[in-house]
Amino acid sequence: MKRVTTFLLALLQVFYSVWTLPTTRTSSNSDCPILSSIKTQKNFNLTKFMEGVWHTRTYNSFVDIPGMDINSYEHYDLKSRLRNTSNGIIIENAGIHKAKHGTGKCLRRNGTVKYEKNDPAKITLVYNFPHLKHEFSYWIRETDYKNYAVVYSCSANVRNNEKCTVDKSHLWTITRTPKTEYPKNKIEEQAKKELCVHGSHNNVTFPETCPLDEKGVHKH
Ligand SMILES: *[C@@H]1O[C@H](CO)[C@@H](O)[C@H](O)[C@H]1NC(C)=O
Ligand SMILES: *[C@@H]1O[C@H](CO)[C@@H](O)[C@H](O)[C@H]1NC(C)=O
Ligand SMILES: *[C@@H]1O[C@H](CO)[C@@H](O)[C@H](O)[C@H]1NC(C)=O
Ligand SMILES: *[C@@H]1O[C@H](CO)[C@@H](O)[C@H](O)[C@H]1NC(C)=O
Repeated sequence: MKRVTTFLLALLQVFYSVWTLPTTRTSSNSDCPILSSIKTQKNFNLTKFMEGVWHTRTYNSFVDIPGMDINSYEHYDLKSRLRNTSNGIIIENAGIHKAKHGTGKCLRRNGTVKYEKNDPAKITLVYNFPHLKHEFSYWIRETDYKNYAVVYSCSANVRNNEKCTVDKSHLWTITRTPKTEYPKNKIEEQAKKELCVHGSHNNVTFPETCPLDEKGVHKH
């Protein structure tokens, strides 16, 4: 019995050391998966995902939303929610944007939501302006609906059988409240292993907040 246990322990150690072999990654685009191989949430339920507000918690870099100029500001509590309206599904965003050393402004921007019929987790957001249509992917990598979701976006205009570029690969985590617990380490490890998402996972802080109409929102 003891021998069997020792053997099993040794086997486990071998597995563990193989499992945790350091993976070295470079910033080369050859690391990036082709888009069609990126996994999204199985049996994604968009209706359930839309039940409530999401708060951004971490990000490697943001996809700029025109009119919100996200990257030139400090940002506090970037919220979004998807809504099924009579004009189709929309995304509403609200966030405090503070120019460096400036005062905070509450900015809002709506976009329209498209999704693939055979994989609704593959969402595309469209922001319309008179002379500009800005489109980017918003793929739900994984979610438990109640607590957190991981969103992947390739902001480059590439096809399904192509790779995104490192500088256009974005990953962010959203949670139902600014304090919801979620498996942060697992997410960051996966991002490094399976996606060409580089850079630190920055945190959003919540010193100020910008109201988003939360009427009819399912409380979690
Ligand atoms: C949006 O609302 C329409 C009309 O009520 C409904 O048919 C459709 O299933 C809804 N879409 C989602 C994703 O919930
Ligand atoms: C999706 O979620 C909605 C709302 O929670 C629920 O009513 C519906 O049954 C779910 N659909 C599936 C296929 O599970
Ligand atoms: C976004 O859409 C909602 C719902 O249609 C609307 O009440 C709100 O005024 C819109 N906000 C902006 C900034 O367009
Ligand atoms: C984000 O917060 C976590 C703890 O919640 C911390 O470990 C991590 O270093 C922070 N990341 C950055 C880039 O500050």
